Amino acid sequence: APHFQFQNNTLHAEQIPLSKLAEEFGTPLYVYSRQALRDAWESYRVAGQDRKLLVCYGMKANSNLAILQEFARLGTGFDIVSGGELARVIAAGGDPGKVVFSGVGKQVWEIEAALKAGVKCFNVESEAELERVAQVAERMNVKAPVSLRVNPDVDARTHPYISTGLKDNKFGVPIDQAPRIYARAQALPSLNIVGVDCHIGSQITEVSPYLDALDKLIKLILALKEQGVNLTHLDLGGGLGIRYTDETLVTPTQLLTEVFSALDTNGLGHLEIVLEPGRSMVGNAGVLLSRVEYLKHGETKNFAIIDAAMNDLIRPTLYDAWHSVEAVEPRPVTETTPRYDLVGPICESGDWLARDRQLELKQGDLIAIMSAGAYAFTMASQYNTRPRAAEILVDGDQVHLIRPRETVDSLFATERLLP
Ligand code: LLP
Repeated sequence: APHFQFQNNTLHAEQIPLSKLAEEFGTPLYVYSRQALRDAWESYRVAGQDRKLLVCYGMKANSNLAILQEFARLGTGFDIVSGGELARVIAAGGDPGKVVFSGVGKQVWEIEAALKAGVKCFNVESEAELERVAQVAERMNVKAPVSLRVNPDVDARTHPYISTGLKDNKFGVPIDQAPRIYARAQALPSLNIVGVDCHIGSQITEVSPYLDALDKLIKLILALKEQGVNLTHLDLGGGLGIRYTDETLVTPTQLLTEVFSALDTNGLGHLEIVLEPGRSMVGNAGVLLSRVEYLKHGETKNFAIIDAAMNDLIRPTLYDAWHSVEAVEPRPVTETTPRYDLVGPICESGDWLARDRQLELKQGDLIAIMSAGAYAFTMASQYNTRPRAAEILVDGDQVHLIRPRETVDSLFATERLLP
């Protein structure tokens, strides 16, 4: 991660030593780099070449208002999955006209809010939802822009919990049923058919699953044309992976070059392309800073008990995910340096952040858990009545507190004692 580098043997976020942030704001602490956000956006922007490309940031990865604001200023749209996320986009100054609304369980109030805000499109995930969107739009006397999320039945070859394009999962409609459902949509006067979408999974490190999906979508788009349905956009979802360790990556340019060429070959070069990247926009723009509370040297295992826990970063517990760990002020590692499991204070054996890491640690040391910009804070909980950690955004030598640490009192402030 180029924006988290060692200077004078101290890990920095841009120009700021992480040790300084820990002193000022305490730990655990999420620290983000503004330049990393800009660079991630830039890699998509240039990949768009001179085509119509709309990047709808998959904000479930990190929905802090300051981060949404930064992306909105750069010109992104947003992929939302709830009324709550829509409210965040609006609060951050995002353009609802660049919002696509995904998710299998859209409620009436959420559909109303999205129609009122004027979203670009509903990514409809079932026939029942199509009917509901049509009814709500009719009642509000507006036309709802819709795209059908199709399930292309391709294997994204990633973790089963984050693979979403296979036949047997809950997302989208089977692609062979799409022509019939589009015909139904055509018959509903309160709907305006604008596109088609898919999202095949997350942390994808190969182009081929995308191209397999694209192939099927192109066939569908051509068949729909015959049926008198002319789409204006094609949304290929998110999913590009990031480097947690030594993964080889697909860049936005590699992906889009292939996409554009396949579309051109099929006479579909005019389509607007929508992407919904989440992780690749923010994942390596953040670290989780934590302090070693205790070291525990056992017969078979050594534990470093740190002040961050599964409630701050659940990815290791949930997906067996590997995050690299750096000592903020590292000491040289020798043959006798122990290997530690880094665990949190939570009362669960699953509460671990990293395993078997050779680090020369002392009590009180600071460590940084890397690649914690995506699916870290947004999946955080208050389990064990642990206040959620503060979030900091570093911009060069400037530091912005973008979410203060929660207080213990606030965690139960709305609870009521019995009479
Ligand atoms: N679009 C849709 C419809 C999605 O469901 C997702 C992510 C995205 C876009 C963004 O995907 P990305 O570019 O971030 O891969 N919590 C898991 C990841 C869950 C992804 C869910 N859907 C993790 O920590 O690995």
